[in-house]
Amino acid sequence: MADTIIATAPTPGAESTKAPLPSDSVIVVLGASGDLAKKKTYPALFGLYRYGLLPSNIRIVGYARTHMSPEEYHSRISGYIKTPDDATKDLLAKFLALTTYVCGKYDVDADFQALDKHICEVEGDAPNGRHRLFYMALPPTVFTPVAQQLKRNCYPEQGTARVIIEKPFGHDLASSRELQASLRPIWAEKEIFRIDHYLGKEMVKNILILRFGNEFFGASWNKNHVSSVQITFKEKFGTEGRGGYFDTFGIIRDVMQNHLLQVLTMIAMERPVSFSAEDIRDEKVRVLRAIPVIDPKNVIIGQYDKSLDGTKPGYLDDATVPAGSRCPTFAAIVLYIKNDRWDGVPFILKAGKALDSAKVDVRVQFKDVTSGIFQNIPRNEFVLRIQPDESVYLKMNTKLPGLTMKTSVSELDLTYTRRFSDLHIPEAYEALILDAINGDHSNFVRDDELDASWKIFTPLLHYLDENEDIVPAKYPYGSRGPAFLDDFLASYGFKRDQTGQYQWPTTKANGKI
Ligand code: BG6
Repeated sequence: MADTIIATAPTPGAESTKAPLPSDSVIVVLGASGDLAKKKTYPALFGLYRYGLLPSNIRIVGYARTHMSPEEYHSRISGYIKTPDDATKDLLAKFLALTTYVCGKYDVDADFQALDKHICEVEGDAPNGRHRLFYMALPPTVFTPVAQQLKRNCYPEQGTARVIIEKPFGHDLASSRELQASLRPIWAEKEIFRIDHYLGKEMVKNILILRFGNEFFGASWNKNHVSSVQITFKEKFGTEGRGGYFDTFGIIRDVMQNHLLQVLTMIAMERPVSFSAEDIRDEKVRVLRAIPVIDPKNVIIGQYDKSLDGTKPGYLDDATVPAGSRCPTFAAIVLYIKNDRWDGVPFILKAGKALDSAKVDVRVQFKDVTSGIFQNIPRNEFVLRIQPDESVYLKMNTKLPGLTMKTSVSELDLTYTRRFSDLHIPEAYEALILDAINGDHSNFVRDDELDASWKIFTPLLHYLDENEDIVPAKYPYGSRGPAFLDDFLASYGFKRDQTGQYQWPTTKANGKI
């Protein structure tokens, strides 16, 4: 089936805010020997290079504390890059030839001066100015010193400087403000690109198009028709060796205050005036400001225990987890939005590790149809599957075919692998790095947006941190979560698969789901 390509005229204003980096720019990856750089940053840079999307004379410089020869550096950064055929192997060799490495500490002026010297050598005379994109793939403890060092020693006097930073942006409102305040005097907001990689995911980017490009959604997307909205994040694996890091954050800080709240914001925001970054982010901030702080009575937390068959360890069995930790590995949190569109509609965020399946989706459950001619007819649900198996489907009632007036639940189904031939869904990091290269802030978190999101979560997080008598409910590794989850959801009016028979996806096409 041919793909449908719709050319949309750029919204006035949208393009004017973008400023693509010139062809001879340099990308500097700070923390080049770390996990994030190896697993995400370099594979994404290679992905963009492969599709010809990096500036044509781009050079890439890695910087980290580890001593590495050029060969060791190249072998480390290509560890997660797949080369299925000779052509890709050749491309990788060309890509590696563009990237060099400098070893240095994160708080030593002389080391950053050496980095600057190296970048200048790579740039040559640079008659058109020096244009540098700094990617900080670093732990939060060194964000501020590195940002200061870069400004002091590597900031181009003429040209462009941009800096990409990654979460965690603090652990509560006060620490987030402290971090922003330490960056503000050195880097202008327009130079900072705060990554929340969920904003780079194809289906999250699709939300604006689905909502505002389809009239029928506009008509029903409100408190008059929607009963509840659930945003669910499930992972099948536990912390397994990463418990030390995870334990200081917990599931709420790790994925809910950022990734899931971002998805909620896109689902709930009003139509932006244009697709320009500031118009989009203004609407996101407006909806976040309409969300009151979370009431602890609208929250449940859990922690995984051994699997029922005893083969998978409990969270507390992880040697990297402190004994007796109360850290939640599961949470369900209900938020409300106090505006005309959503007042009274529960937005339920659910996230957990070591669950029965791996998926991220948004489920908008509509209200019951008027009773009378129907008894217990199931509700409509609009489901946006963010991952895996990207799809959008609408569960609806239809007449069971044949000599009967019985109803059956079916769906309008847009499964990407079936609908789009030669499907290539870019990695979130590819999309976001390309946006930063193009100077487009739409899919990055603005400072006031970050502030508004921490305001919603901070009282709850402090309440959980400080009250030692609040202990997460245990759930077996590989289960759906704590046993009372369904009752909790039902208490917010959610009706779960009333027929007990509905299954999705129902058919297979070409061996694909
Ligand atoms: C990260 C969290 O931000 O997101 C991880 O720190 C989580 O704990 C990950 O596993 C999930 O990202 P994705 O893209 O795999 O859904």
